[in-house]
Amino acid sequence: MIKSSDLRMTRIPLGHGVGQMPALGFGTLISDPALTKTATRDALDAGFRHFDCAERYGNEREVGRALQAGLAAGGIAREDIFVTTKLWNSNHRPERVEPAFAGSLDRLGLKYLDLYLIHTPFAFQPGDNQDPRDQNGDVLYDRGVTLLDTWKALESLVDHGKCGAIGLSDITLSDLRPIYESARIKPAVVQVESHPYLPETELLEFCKEKGIVFLAFAPLGHGMKPGLLEDPVISAIAARVGKTPAQVLLAWAVQRGTALLTTPRSAARARENFDITSLPEDALDEINRIQTRRRLNPVVNTGVPGFIPKGRGV
Ligand SMILES: NC(=O)c1ccc[n+]([C@@H]2O[C@H](COP(=O)([O-])OP(=O)(O)OC[C@H]3O[C@@H](n4cnc5c(N)ncnc54)[C@H](OP(=O)(O)O)[C@@H]3O)[C@@H](O)[C@H]2O)c1
Repeated sequence: MIKSSDLRMTRIPLGHGVGQMPALGFGTLISDPALTKTATRDALDAGFRHFDCAERYGNEREVGRALQAGLAAGGIAREDIFVTTKLWNSNHRPERVEPAFAGSLDRLGLKYLDLYLIHTPFAFQPGDNQDPRDQNGDVLYDRGVTLLDTWKALESLVDHGKCGAIGLSDITLSDLRPIYESARIKPAVVQVESHPYLPETELLEFCKEKGIVFLAFAPLGHGMKPGLLEDPVISAIAARVGKTPAQVLLAWAVQRGTALLTTPRSAARARENFDITSLPEDALDEINRIQTRRRLNPVVNTGVPGFIPKGRGV
């Protein structure tokens, strides 16, 4: 457990000496282009130095422009921020990986990426249609490529100095193990949904044992209501320690040794979500004893993105 009281600058080493990831990450899953720009800039101004993007989010250009403007205005160097983007499911064929990577880099306006992730382990029919479906509306998967084939193409991006580290997202422990065993360059990061209702303890233990950074998305339960932000245990701790429920949830995530991605959409929320201090051990224990279990995003089962609409969660 981390003892420091100020968690804002927490950094987690990536394996094999390829640098460190700021634990507090800003996620760019925002559909509105104008809001993408203001929220990204607000996050940078609030102190976030870790930005999570994806070709699937369709807004790499807006994120890139906001970052360029923010870096210039704040006198912040490129090396002071950590930028990730992700390979989409329709680009799993090895020959599509480098062009997809180059396209993301171009849209973001960057010369290199700190981290490139395979967005999900599910290969869709290769092509420029990100959501290929048959006449019944069922997803067209690509049986002609394995996850290891795609992983090897990512390894060659690292070999050619195009990105610092590579990893996986939306993967289960049973699918991660064989890739970990076969990989020449081991995954540096695994990005999955995680919060007190989905602690993913077994996966976290595996990651800690292997030196893989566990990066939690939806640490606030995606802001779904009713949900984690109204949980009575979280609310009571927040009142006791003089923090907001969001700050309690983010501190818990950092103190259990994970990095996280949160998506505040206003300057005030960006400042709130960055202002994280450590919780006492008894508060951490109380959160760890929460019994509710709920997955909010079924992408891990299908490769199809999206949170489960309110009221239909399992
Ligand atoms: N790998 C994957 O498949 C995958 C899937 C999903 C997400 N992600 C990544 O993870 C990132 C974070 O996921 P997420 O958006 O679910 O994170 P989150 O931070 O748990 O949820 C964001 C929601 O919480 C609300 N919120 C933020 N700060 C708040 C605060 N201080 N108080 C109250 N409500 C607050 C926001 O509401 P308002 O809109 O009202 O501000 C927003 O709707 C994404 O942007 C993306 O980068 C990855």
